[in-house]
Amino acid sequence: MRFPILLHVAYKAGGATRLKTLKDIDLAGKRVLMRADFNVPMDKEQNIIDDTKIKAALPTINYILEQGASLILMSHLGRPKGEKNVKYSLKPVSKHLASLIDYPIIMAPDSIGADVEGLASKLNKGEVLLLENVRFYKEEEKNEANYANKLAELADVFVNDAFGSAHRAHASTAGVAQKLPTFAGLLMEKEVAMLKSVLEYPESPRMAILGGAKVVDKLGLINNLLAKLDVLLIGGGMANTFLKAQGYNTGKSRVENELLEDAKGLLANASKKGVKIVLPVDVVLGQDLTSDTPAIVVDITEVPDDMMILDIGPETIKLFQEEIAKARTIVWNGPLGVYEYEQFANGTREVAKTMADSAAVTVIGGGDSAAAVQNMGLEDKITHISTGGGATLEFLEGLPLPGVVACNA
Ligand code: 3PG
Repeated sequence: MRFPILLHVAYKAGGATRLKTLKDIDLAGKRVLMRADFNVPMDKEQNIIDDTKIKAALPTINYILEQGASLILMSHLGRPKGEKNVKYSLKPVSKHLASLIDYPIIMAPDSIGADVEGLASKLNKGEVLLLENVRFYKEEEKNEANYANKLAELADVFVNDAFGSAHRAHASTAGVAQKLPTFAGLLMEKEVAMLKSVLEYPESPRMAILGGAKVVDKLGLINNLLAKLDVLLIGGGMANTFLKAQGYNTGKSRVENELLEDAKGLLANASKKGVKIVLPVDVVLGQDLTSDTPAIVVDITEVPDDMMILDIGPETIKLFQEEIAKARTIVWNGPLGVYEYEQFANGTREVAKTMADSAAVTVIGGGDSAAAVQNMGLEDKITHISTGGGATLEFLEGLPLPGVVACNA
């Protein structure tokens, strides 16, 4: 029910910068080069631990093939630094993808070169060729035209579905778009629409929940959110710097002392703009950062010098829950405590549950909060879980993402 309205809002908000999408092109008989983000976590034996990103690309893959096109897929995996390294081969992805689609898939020995050109030229409609890791070439990350040209020569049309890599101006995300007619894939379209919607939804309150370790990674993000949102809930390690800036003792918690003035400035700016910032009023403490440290709950005015803040406390959870219940849109990035350790996982878990029960449009951006929701089996109760980490943060920060810009009409 909520989704079509959101898409409408997003397109209105997109205005002149509407994305060119798959609806804008007849793909029948075309050879399509698609950038996906198959940068999935693997164990030492190269077993895929989490295939969320591969599954997220399936609607675009199936759509292109159903239209009577042939498909050349490309992606990066890890950071092989411009060298061929079997550890970062996309072969396991090819194998896994074969089990998820009803079309034949060929694993290419490379991403460019005579062999790849031969395979691409023989590709029939309904067939898939997966190129080897584009980061095996240093030209990829340098966005060198030579490499982008060779990729582009393999196909008639470029579809960028790699929202998770859209903040990278690389040959396979941005360079190729200079050479071929370029369109956003279905995932790219959905990610952009959802993230735009939470920032531009017409009804208040619009809320962000921010956690994670460091303020330094999120200064630009908070600044942009202060211009767009009504309420900001802050937990996780990053709350310590704000709490200290307000004069509270934070014990031996990690604090970014060099950012205390920035934190004060952000709090002042929020109050000037009428944005409500909610910080922890009580916290869960531990002696150190170990899995068996006993946890104690104290009021924020009672943190002793020899302990560290490792989660938000029950009163803070209640406050957060009250705010979440009022919100119309909520975007959440970053865990609210050290949720890897059971005794400090409560804040993250309770907020995840409350978001899942909320009638608001709920969007989760970023790896750790997404993982927390998935581990709890709540993913179906969230409007949208973004596949982007850095890309999502940069989007919410208001920065233009090269991979998205390349798809603009
Ligand atoms: C990610 O996992 O966030 C994306 O795939 C981008 O990966 P990168 O940070 O190595 O560019």
